[in-house]
Amino acid sequence: MNNRPIGIFDSGVGGLTVAHAIKQILPGESLVYFGDTAHLPYGDKSEEAIKYYSGKITEFLLGHDSKVVLVACNSASASAFDSLKKEFGPGTILIDVIDPVVNYIGSRDLRKIGVIGTKRTISSGTYDKKIRERSPGTSVISMATPLLVPMIEEGFIFDDISNAIIRTYLSCQEFAGIEALVLGCTHYPIIRNQISKFFNFNVEVIDSSRTVSQILRETLEKNNLLNDTGKVKDQFFISDYTPYFEKIAKMFFEGEINLKKADIWN
Ligand code: DGL
Repeated sequence: MNNRPIGIFDSGVGGLTVAHAIKQILPGESLVYFGDTAHLPYGDKSEEAIKYYSGKITEFLLGHDSKVVLVACNSASASAFDSLKKEFGPGTILIDVIDPVVNYIGSRDLRKIGVIGTKRTISSGTYDKKIRERSPGTSVISMATPLLVPMIEEGFIFDDISNAIIRTYLSCQEFAGIEALVLGCTHYPIIRNQISKFFNFNVEVIDSSRTVSQILRETLEKNNLLNDTGKVKDQFFISDYTPYFEKIAKMFFEGEINLKKADIWN
């Protein structure tokens, strides 16, 4: 049964940064990915809406025989993770993208850090609360950066527009003196280099994809679920077709991808 896939979801291309990191660490695993492009961006949606979307998608991924479901979206991890755990029960292995980062920060001795994310993630206060509990000596400055997801989804990545938006957000006074910046949105690793460059590479940029992939590997090992069959087949589903999703997915997964539209809302 170990050749069952790892289910993974996000509102769009963001979760592909996590999917890509999983493939680096666990090349023998199959993925079933769901990008909810019909409801993008999640960052502007209500908690109730995100809970509903996340529940339906998790059902879909489990229906595709996922052995683990990875919530590769901070907005959904912040708003819906607890309700998913309740709804799907202890028999379902669920992993979010926030707790692994909070634990990583706890293993470091940082005085002041910044967190950027969507309006939903930042207004939920999840990062602030969890980091304060785990690392009481670390001061946390959080900021919503809502233009970054539409900017990335529209393909503005290495140009004057993206540079101006990144600079405007990150030059805020409150971020002066931060030692690390948490990319609290899985879309942001796509512009990670520009963010590092803005800080002249003097600030550690923490993105969840690697940390989460390591937690996933440990979880699979612990539960004896590593795929040892040598058979790998990745599937990608989106709720609305966008050429940009296909382009980015091909960029991350080099070449042809098996992309299908799935209508799971009716
Ligand atoms: N990539 C997602 C996140 O980590 C969702 C962004 C959005 O759709 O607003 O929050």
